Amino acid sequence: MTNAPVICVDGPSGAGKGTLSTKLAEALGWHLLDSGALYRIVGYACVLRDISWQDEARVVEVAETLDVRFAPSPSGVSVWLADQDVTTQIRSQDGSRGASAVAVLAKVRGALLERQRELATFPGLVADGRDMGTVVFPSAALKIFLTASPEARASRRQAQLLEKGESVSLRRLLDSINERDERDINRSASPLVAAEDAVHIDSSALSVDAVCDRVVELAAGKGLIARSPN
Ligand code: DC
Repeated sequence: MTNAPVICVDGPSGAGKGTLSTKLAEALGWHLLDSGALYRIVGYACVLRDISWQDEARVVEVAETLDVRFAPSPSGVSVWLADQDVTTQIRSQDGSRGASAVAVLAKVRGALLERQRELATFPGLVADGRDMGTVVFPSAALKIFLTASPEARASRRQAQLLEKGESVSLRRLLDSINERDERDINRSASPLVAAEDAVHIDSSALSVDAVCDRVVELAAGKGLIARSPN
């Protein structure tokens, strides 16, 4: 690992981590790690190879040999598995289920560790996930734990899916968010917990811009950036 600065953005699904991290990385001109995408790709690659999400040894093999690439696209970042654009598939509800299932496997998490750490290069990295501040980058200079009420998270997720033409009821989304939280919080391998030194931000009633400004301010306060880019 280099000593490039890292800002960790952890928290439950739907709290706005992805949007915040993308915006933050853009504002600072830093690299971005979407660690959830890695778990989503592993889950999806298993489906393609007809491997059960519970078959730890084979899922580890998939994680270790993952040929993944993130490429800029007009709608943000597209995700490639070998020569297939899997951006849409990994973001579907099935993609979420697969990610959550393989993410409970300790050896799969271990297999993805180095791949994530290698991304901490200059000028800096914004790392979006669940265990960025606790496991992957424990010595990061700034750790954010972003939360939002389950209702706010479900309605944001519904809007995101609608944009992609997928219509899902709010009730179903709320159930699936609660189910995923339960699994993410209670798993024994890297459960979702805030790092002791994380700054907690509740985004329920805040715009992305407001949260981003707050994090930029914190980064400037810690000397990670020379001045606010805004
Ligand atoms: O952030 P996301 O919704 O794309 O994450 C998909 C799943 O992967 C979610 O169930 C949590 C899991 N995950 C994880 O366990 N650790 C991470 N660092 C990132 C995501």
